[in-house]
Amino acid sequence: MTDRTLVLVKPDGVARGLVGEVVSRLEAKGLRLVAAELRTLTREVAEEHYGEHRDKPFFGSLVEFITGGPLLALVVEGPRAVEAFRALAGATDPVKAAPGTIRGDFALEVQSNIVHGSDSAESAAREIGLFFPGLS
Ligand code: CMP
Repeated sequence: MTDRTLVLVKPDGVARGLVGEVVSRLEAKGLRLVAAELRTLTREVAEEHYGEHRDKPFFGSLVEFITGGPLLALVVEGPRAVEAFRALAGATDPVKAAPGTIRGDFALEVQSNIVHGSDSAESAAREIGLFFPGLS
């Protein structure tokens, strides 16, 4: 069964030159790229993407951060792609993320944690529709 997930290399990851590292890791794992686009998010798209966090105290800061520079949006495909990419990314808090994961190896702060990966098949469908409406 082939699934799809949305991956973002966030503005901190792009600014630090980690795009190649992230793509290399997911391709080495066996996941395949279906779509890729470097873009700077509008506030509207950012607020919709992170809509489930609207009531959290860090929401305003998160929207500022994610719109603060170009990010790389990817659609990635493979068996259990949602789960597979989240395992590569590691825990949301990079200090708790295991060494060997993307966040465990390259980040220290929970907001600037290098990558985003959809957290469920339902989120993946919604997020892919938001970033790449032509794909779904
Ligand atoms: P992500 O996987 O993209 O999903 C939501 C994002 O919110 C998360 O990664 C972090 O970038 C950010 N985030 C989660 N918790 C916090 C927090 N406590 N403070 C600031 N940002 C957070």
